[in-house]
Amino acid sequence: GLPDFAPAVVIGTGYGAAVTALRLGEAGIPTVMLEMGQLWDTPTADGSVFSPMLSPDRRSMWLKDRTEMPLASFLWIDIDRRIERYTGVLDRVHYGDMSVYVGRGVGGGSLVNGAMAVTPRRSYFEEILPAVDADEMYGTYFPRANHNLGVNEVDRDWFEECDSYQYARLSRKHAEKAGYRTTFVPSVYDFDYMRREEAGEVPRSALSAEVIFGNNHGKRSLDKTYLAAALGTGNVTIKTLQEVRDIRRGADGTYRLTVRELDETGGTVARREMGARYLFLGAGSIGSTELLVRARDTGTLPDLGEQVGQGWGPNGNVMVGRANHAWDLTGATQSGMPALGIDAWDDPDNPVFAEIAPMPAGLELWASLYLAITKNPERGHFTYDPTTDAAKLHWTAEQGRPSIDSAKVHFDRINGVNNTVYRHDLFGDTRTFENRFTYHPLGGAVLGEATDLYGRVKGYDNLYVTDGSLIPGSTGVNPFVTITALAERNVERVLAEDIRG
Ligand code: FDA
Repeated sequence: GLPDFAPAVVIGTGYGAAVTALRLGEAGIPTVMLEMGQLWDTPTADGSVFSPMLSPDRRSMWLKDRTEMPLASFLWIDIDRRIERYTGVLDRVHYGDMSVYVGRGVGGGSLVNGAMAVTPRRSYFEEILPAVDADEMYGTYFPRANHNLGVNEVDRDWFEECDSYQYARLSRKHAEKAGYRTTFVPSVYDFDYMRREEAGEVPRSALSAEVIFGNNHGKRSLDKTYLAAALGTGNVTIKTLQEVRDIRRGADGTYRLTVRELDETGGTVARREMGARYLFLGAGSIGSTELLVRARDTGTLPDLGEQVGQGWGPNGNVMVGRANHAWDLTGATQSGMPALGIDAWDDPDNPVFAEIAPMPAGLELWASLYLAITKNPERGHFTYDPTTDAAKLHWTAEQGRPSIDSAKVHFDRINGVNNTVYRHDLFGDTRTFENRFTYHPLGGAVLGEATDLYGRVKGYDNLYVTDGSLIPGSTGVNPFVTITALAERNVERVLAEDIRG
């Protein structure tokens, strides 16, 4: 059950939430984390915690009857499968022209993501968040985040000779032939473990295609890093299958939460109330924003401003596949964890950072896949829909067009030089560029707009946003290092001024 009250409550257990709980716990503040997903630490009958990637079971997805994979088809054959409805680890939330992938469970997105741990280019960070002191970020908080997340780099000699990254070496060859530069991508997947997977010394995870439905080995997800440390302080507890629905403020100035306890099929076990003096929203861009727009528009936190719900973007995500020549093999074994990206971010007209993504099917597919991050100035926003009691994202296909146009410039060039073509069979119909989903939802409660420069929500004391909602729609690279570093910076200030002070 839930306690009636805690000095601090953190909603969610993703990056922002985990950082915040650790620092509160270290400061001696009793803290309760409320997570709507499960704790993923117990093997089922097959001996593994997470679902296999290529034969997904009910553990794969959050309350769905079918899997909803990012690649919908191969040779136009539907690759999704029927599954039993269950509180699984990956959710895909649909909002008209855009759907958003998110992790559910203790660790949030860290359970399902590709582990790419990229610090944004300083000049771009200064462009998106000009009011944040970049010297402090690059001198203190980015290094702190990288250290605590357990970021490591692939051994370059091993990379050049291993089977698992043949697909990346092939894409590099094609990119370099077209005059592009590639860069290695740091990771929170343990590359030493991966090397031992390939050597046959340990059970396979990255080399067994595992990624979006969870990794059974090798990944330093938050439950192994920040959250383990938070629990280790003795001041933090995590309550699972607890979904926060409503936030009100009591007459004494404390917050009152309505919390729905879920069963494993998503049904309601109970609704309870819980109080908190300090409330931190770490439910992710779509989760925290929904809580705030609901609270504003149902009148439970009426002083929330117009900036709440604004400034959302998909980090310019676009997926694209190329068909390779018969002699250009990617190899049947492809590490599920990317290690290389094509860096065209300096292109003044079409900045693109394209991660070389695996297609880990266990057989040669003669295809190369990419997740491109583009710089798209379009932004979406959320409104509250009283008929569904949910937030609605306003984002149109038209707004995604600049991302496709930018990516196309570069992949046209790569195809042209290498005499290759796009794959038309990957995304359910014949389209070549897919941007109807994002892995990188950002914004909704932007730093310095809906909140002050440290995540304090405008209009209310002791109410904070700690997650990807703070970032205005784009980071130019995969976002979790930025989210982690900003959370480190903000909680330090809040502890010093609001809580200890
Ligand atoms: P995050 O989304 O991590 O956590 C929010 C948590 O709150 C979740 O556990 C959720 O269940 C919970 N929650 C939501 N609403 C709630 C409520 N009302 N009550 C209680 N709990 C609630 N990034 C990157 O840098 N490198 C990469 O390689 C990848 N790859 C990647 C692949 C895939 C498949 C996905 C889905 C995402 C990525 N990402 C990524 C993105 C990255 O995972 C993402 O940016 C972060 O997880 C966001 O961190 P947050 O702290 O914002 O929330």
